[in-house]
Amino acid sequence: MVAVPEGLPGPEHFEVVDVPVREPGPGEVLVRNRYFPVSARLRTLLVGGVEGAPLPPVRVGEVPPSITVGEVVAVGGGEGPGVGDWMSHWDGWREESVVPVDGCTPLGDWLPDPVAHLGSWWTSYVALTRHARLRSGETVLVTAGAGGVGSIVGPLARLLGAGRVIATARTREKAQRLVHELGYDAAFVIGEEPVEAADVIVDNVGGATLRALLDVAKPGARVALVGALEGQLTGSGTTAPVELDTFGLILRGISLHGVNNRPDQDERDDWLGRLGGWLRSGALTFPHVRVSGIDSAPRALQEVIAGHHLGTVVVEL
Ligand SMILES: NC(=O)c1ccc[n+]([C@@H]2O[C@H](COP(=O)([O-])OP(=O)(O)OC[C@H]3O[C@@H](n4cnc5c(N)ncnc54)[C@H](OP(=O)(O)O)[C@@H]3O)[C@@H](O)[C@H]2O)c1
Repeated sequence: MVAVPEGLPGPEHFEVVDVPVREPGPGEVLVRNRYFPVSARLRTLLVGGVEGAPLPPVRVGEVPPSITVGEVVAVGGGEGPGVGDWMSHWDGWREESVVPVDGCTPLGDWLPDPVAHLGSWWTSYVALTRHARLRSGETVLVTAGAGGVGSIVGPLARLLGAGRVIATARTREKAQRLVHELGYDAAFVIGEEPVEAADVIVDNVGGATLRALLDVAKPGARVALVGALEGQLTGSGTTAPVELDTFGLILRGISLHGVNNRPDQDERDDWLGRLGGWLRSGALTFPHVRVSGIDSAPRALQEVIAGHHLGTVVVEL
C-alpha cells in the first residue's frame, strides 16, 4: 500500500514493486504463490483495523495480508514440507513468500482443487450449524448473498437441510443472478421491496440491513453475525453501529450470535473430509471468479466493493 485511502480503496493506493527474495533459512520454506482472494473486508485493515481482529492493520509500505495458497519451491532445511508440496499461509499479496514452516498449513489432498481452500467454508458451516442451529426445513436468509461468504452459505444451507434459502443483494440485477446462478429461492433488495421472514439469518452486512431483517424475523429466529460490510465500507470502516429496538427481540425470542471460530486440527480434518466429498460429487461447487496477475489485485478489490462479481474473487498468479 502506498497511501491510506480516505474513502474506498482503489488502484491509486497500491503499487506493485520488485524486491529480491532471499533464500529460506532453517525452519522456513520458499512458496511460489498461486492464488489469493480479494475481499471487501480489506478496507477495514487499510484504514486502521479493529482491536482484537485476526489480522493487523496494513501500514503504508506494507503488503496486504490474506490467506494464500502456493507450492513449495525451496526448503531451508529441517523437518517439514518438501519441494512440490502445496501449502496455505497468510503472507498475502506476493508472488513468492519465505514463510516459517509453523506458519504454513499443508493442503494435503482433501479438496479436489487447491483454489477451493480459499473459500469461507468453515465460517459458513459453523454459522449455520453451531451459531444459528439450523433445523431441517427452516428458511435461511443470507445478507450479501453474492459475496465470498454469502455465495457459500446459501448452497451449503440447502445441503444441510434448509427448506427455503433466500438472500439480499444491493441491486435487482444482482438479486436475479443470485436466483439464476446460485440457486437461491428468492433474493431481495432491502428498501425496495418487502423481505421475507426467516428462521435463520446469516448476516454479513449489519447496519440498516440487519435492522430491517430483525423487524420481520420469525419468533425464535437465530441470527449468526458473520460480517459488517456496511460498517466496513461506509464511514470510518472500523465501526459497525446499528440501533435496534430490543423490546421486539426479547418479545419474539430472537437471539444474536457473533461468529468468530477457528477449527482445531481434528475439526479441520473432519470438516475438510466432508467438504472434499461434497466438492468431488458435485453436491457443492466453489463459486469464484479468477483474475490474472498480481497487477490486477487492486482493481479487483475496487470491483468487489462495487459489487461487480459473484462469489469469491481470486487472483491467480
Ligand atoms: N466472522 C468470521 O469469521 C468471518 C469470516 C469471513 C468473513 N467475515 C466477514 O464477512 C463479511 C463478508 O465477507 P466476504 O468475504 O463475503 O465479502 P466480499 O465477498 O468481499 O463482499 C462482496 C460483497 O459486498 C457487498 N457490499 C459491498 N458494499 C456493501 C455495502 N456498503 N453494504 C452492503 N453490502 C456491500 C456486495 O454486495 P452486492 O453484490 O449486493 O453488490 C458484494 O457482493 C465481511 O464483513 C467479512 O469481514 C467474517
